[in-house]
Amino acid sequence: MSNNRTMSKTLAFYSLTMAFFFLSGAHSARITFTNNCLNTVWPGTLTADQQPQLSNTGFELLSKKSSLPLDTPPLWKGRFWARTECSTDKSGKFTCATAECDTGQVACSGNGAIPPATLVEINIAADGGMDFYDVSLVDGFNLPISVATQGGSGDCRASSCPTNVTMACPTELQMKGCDGRVLACKSACIAFNTPNYCCTGTFNTPQTCPPTDYSRLFKQQCRQAYSYAYDDPDSTFTCSGRPDYHITFCP
Ligand SMILES: *[C@@H]1O[C@H](CO)[C@@H](O)[C@H](O)[C@H]1NC(C)=O
Repeated sequence: MSNNRTMSKTLAFYSLTMAFFFLSGAHSARITFTNNCLNTVWPGTLTADQQPQLSNTGFELLSKKSSLPLDTPPLWKGRFWARTECSTDKSGKFTCATAECDTGQVACSGNGAIPPATLVEINIAADGGMDFYDVSLVDGFNLPISVATQGGSGDCRASSCPTNVTMACPTELQMKGCDGRVLACKSACIAFNTPNYCCTGTFNTPQTCPPTDYSRLFKQQCRQAYSYAYDDPDSTFTCSGRPDYHITFCP
C-alpha cells in the first residue's frame, strides 16, 4: 500500500515536472553515445555541482558502432568519459584499466573518473540559451573522443580529439598496466601536481599560467581539445537553441 502511495506521489511529481517543462518550453537534451572503437568501452557520466545524477551513470557499449541515448534535464552541467579494458573479478567487483570510477560496479553513481581520462564537458543552458561544450585533456588522455551537436543554432561546431595521444606520450606522463603496456597519458598536472602545471596558487589566472611544453604537446596532438586548465578560449564550443549531442568514442 505505502509503496503504491509513494509511487503515485512520484508519478504525480513527475507529471507535474514534465507539465512544467512543457509549459515553460524547456526540453531535455538527448545525448547519444556511440562506440566506434575496436573494443568494448564503458562510458561514465557525472553531473556537476551536487545536482542529481542522470538516470544512467555508467554502462557498457559494445564495439561496432553500438549506441545508447541518454536524456539530461533542461538545465544540466556535467561530464562524460569512457573506461577501457574492464572486467568483473570472482568476487563480483568491476574494475577497469583506465578512467576507473572506483565503485566496483558498472554504474559510477556520482563518482568521477580517476585520471588519466579524456573528458567531454557539456553545460546545457536553460530555455534554449547558449550551451558550452568541450573535449578536455586537462585530466589526461585515455581514448579519442568527439562531441557534435544536432539541431540548435549558432556556431555549433563539433569538437574532436581523434588522435591516439597515448602513442605520443612522453615516458614521464605514461600510465602503464601491470604488463608494462602504456594504457593512457597523464596530463602534467596529474603527473607532477605542481602549481605551474595545475594553474593553482600564484598560477591561478590565465595570465600567470601560460602553456608548457607538455600542454603544447597535447595541443599538437588534439588541436580542438583543452590542453590545460587555462587553454585559449578556442577550446570552448557553443551552441544555442537546445541542440542534442552525439558523443563518439574513437571517432
Ligand atoms: C592507443 O595507443 C596505445 C599505445 O600504443 C594502445 O595501447 C591503445 O590500444 C591505443 N588506443 C586506441 C583507442 O587505439
